Amino acid sequence: MFGLLEVGLLALPRLCTLGRSLHITSMRRRSKLDACNMYDKMKFEFTKENKARVESLLTWYPEAERQGALLPLLDIAQRQHGWLPISAVVAVAEVLKIDPMQAYETAKYYTMFHMKPRGMYVVAVCTSTPCFLRGSDDLLKACSKMLRLEPGETSKDMQFSLKVDCCLGACVNGPVVTINDDLYEDLTEVSLESILSDLKCGKVPPAGPYSGRCSSEPKDGATTLLIDPPPAGYKMQDLDDSGEK
Ligand code: FES
Repeated sequence: MFGLLEVGLLALPRLCTLGRSLHITSMRRRSKLDACNMYDKMKFEFTKENKARVESLLTWYPEAERQGALLPLLDIAQRQHGWLPISAVVAVAEVLKIDPMQAYETAKYYTMFHMKPRGMYVVAVCTSTPCFLRGSDDLLKACSKMLRLEPGETSKDMQFSLKVDCCLGACVNGPVVTINDDLYEDLTEVSLESILSDLKCGKVPPAGPYSGRCSSEPKDGATTLLIDPPPAGYKMQDLDDSGEK
């Protein structure tokens, strides 16, 4: 009995320290969010259509796992508002009944979320290794010159935002640029210039590879699957009932 009491007394200071540090962490997180709130007095409420969309999406998740819907809900909020003000992040956290700071940190982490007003077209140039080896740095310089923007900036007329991104998942078609939701692949300075000129005139050019190849097939043409596949059941008639020839 005395031994247990002794152990408890020894652990007490450590528990107090742990409690104090948890309290300080939560205070810091709260004050960080309050600081953001100071700059963001914007009201946000899901529209009727988006409320219905959110409710239907939440039915996919078990009650205890609703926070798994955080990314799609942030995406719905961003598509509604154009970017993600803090009030939208808090509204999403309220729907999911999670700490607003958790929603905020998630939104800050993913580059697809914009925490400040953005241009109508967000041009993101991938500069990760495969795209870099195919000339993404030159594309970025050309883009910057054509739009008169540095990465991270938005034009005054709110038409373009320029940013640098990490791998966009289409390395085999590098260099790659995303414009809003679309991937533009196999780009050169010339093709990128024509894409941006079209956008400036309000015309959205087709997405996909600009080298003439289909999807991500080899650039000099297909090297496999050169003949039509045999019909279903091919050679099956040569087998007996036991599956032997
Ligand atoms: S490195 Fe550019 S898409 Fe993967």
